[in-house]
Amino acid sequence: MDQEIIESPASSRFLTYGQEGFEGMRAAGQLAARCLDMLASEVQPGVTTQHLDDLAHQFILDNGALSATVGYRGYRHNLCISPNHVICHGMPGPKPLKDGDITNIDVTVIVDGWHGDTSRMYYVGEPKVKAQRLTEVTFECLWKGIEVVKPGATLRDIGRAIQDHAEAAGFSVVRDFCGHGVGRTFHTAPNIVHYAEFRDGLGRTHRTPETPLVEGMFFTIEPMINAGRPDVRMMKDGWTAVTRDKSLTAQFEHSLGVTKDGYEVFTGSPTGLDCPPYTID
Ligand code: MF3
Ligand code: CO
Ligand code: CO
Repeated sequence: MDQEIIESPASSRFLTYGQEGFEGMRAAGQLAARCLDMLASEVQPGVTTQHLDDLAHQFILDNGALSATVGYRGYRHNLCISPNHVICHGMPGPKPLKDGDITNIDVTVIVDGWHGDTSRMYYVGEPKVKAQRLTEVTFECLWKGIEVVKPGATLRDIGRAIQDHAEAAGFSVVRDFCGHGVGRTFHTAPNIVHYAEFRDGLGRTHRTPETPLVEGMFFTIEPMINAGRPDVRMMKDGWTAVTRDKSLTAQFEHSLGVTKDGYEVFTGSPTGLDCPPYTID
């Protein structure tokens, strides 16, 4: 018989914040967004991901902030750089990016104790048609999820909007990683999954809880969308997650807060560099 699993609401106990929280998150979110803006002109064929991490490190220091990822559960880098078939948590290193790669860059900064967590895709030189389409659909998925957000909408509504859009385009939603509550803590309740339901390999249907959003909640939405199957493989380094079928994958992330009648995105680019191609003068 089919078993149905409504995933535990990851505790309906999450914090809500007032004006001071919104101000703190705005400052942290904008610094994180400016860090990603700064990197837009640096992502070029031949640049090493270590160099990009060094630039982010300097930028964060120069702005009197801290990196939330250095020292986080043993992670040692300022950025996660996840090219091509790397879903998330790619580690910066000596390998250069090459023409035609697409890559996600994810940064989290701490400003006055508040965490600004955001990521975007970048094109290295000219993207292939399929890579460009995956990138654009993933950006749309993020915004389909964001536009649902208001008091009374549910976690399942966010997942539904993202999953429907990804699957209509012939892509799949990664289930093994999700968005999260954010604020004075980097990762906290609730889990923000990017699907409404799915059937696992054992034939069980997993349904996202209909947990209502409330004013003052802070969380990320960060859909990871695969061109092929949704399945993940972890590399031996314990961090790098790749698509099991080696298909291309893309991700965008914003930190946001629930307002009286909608949402405030904390991590929007102040210069409009939200989705590639980035034209910088
Ligand atoms: N910034 C990632 C997120 O979106 C988390 C990175 S944790 C790290 O939640 F340790 F891998 F950096
Ligand atoms: Co996040
Ligand atoms: Co992030």
